[in-house]
Amino acid sequence: MDKLKLGALLKGLAKIIGSRPRLPRSLESNEALRTILERRSVRHYSDAPLPADAWAAILEAGRVAPSTVNLQTWSFALFDRDEWSEFFGKALPLGGQRAIIVLADLHRAKRVVEGFPYAPLAEYTVGVMNASLAAMNMVQAAETLGVSSVMLSETGRTGFYDAAFLAEQLALPPGVVPITTIVFGYSARGEQAMPPKLPPGAVTFTGRYRETPADILADWHLQMRAGYQAGHKGEDFSAKIRYYNTRIRTAERDLRRLVFYDGE
Ligand SMILES: Cc1cc2nc3c(=O)[nH]c(=O)nc-3n(C[C@H](O)[C@H](O)[C@H](O)COP(=O)(O)O)c2cc1C
Repeated sequence: MDKLKLGALLKGLAKIIGSRPRLPRSLESNEALRTILERRSVRHYSDAPLPADAWAAILEAGRVAPSTVNLQTWSFALFDRDEWSEFFGKALPLGGQRAIIVLADLHRAKRVVEGFPYAPLAEYTVGVMNASLAAMNMVQAAETLGVSSVMLSETGRTGFYDAAFLAEQLALPPGVVPITTIVFGYSARGEQAMPPKLPPGAVTFTGRYRETPADILADWHLQMRAGYQAGHKGEDFSAKIRYYNTRIRTAERDLRRLVFYDGE
């Protein structure tokens, strides 16, 4: 895929900059809604440390998240900057202050709940679902405290792409699978534009499944490419896709090994 021509690039960027979360006028002043809608993934952090109470509140939000049959099928590996660099031999990603490696964890529940059949896909689905909810609860709690975050699949060996590496480093038992690493800190930059979100109606339907109209998809794709091109000088979107192709192939192989363990 070629780079976008200047006209298309500018058109895409103008749309990105002009996009805002939409709220009914009657709810515009609702703080909780604003916090949810204005959250952005932040990739540059300042050196300001997180207060202990904020960190405790973030973890509490993870602990009390909803889960299937209240099984709480998650574990959180916690790191501050020093702990991360000591453990992984490199700096905590993106200059963040703290990180949580979120794990889908069926191992703990299976120690007390017996008699389930070997059902790795069902377990993985439940584990990923619940751990993702806990992850989002922590992200939202952070946001209400002015603490920014980003969930990462790719952190240079500690995202889910590197599940096998992490399983070994963290000595994970069977049934515990890394799903994402959340980095927390205070943003080093001002407000960020919202990345291209599909418009209302493009992702909903009632009754039978409805295809997103092709022109809406094309418009969104243009914006995605424009945003990428503007943020990554000298690179293009298709080069990134090729890179992810390789990473996904390795991740698939490693995840299969972790998810389809022998049931012991
Ligand atoms: C599970 C998950 C994994 C992600 N992995 C990465 C990643 O590896 N690198 C990155 O820069 N952003 C990553 N992101 C952030 C997304 O790129 C971001 O959520 C998306 O572009 C939408 O932007 P927003 O969060 O500001 O709305 C991830 C997000 C999620 C939910």
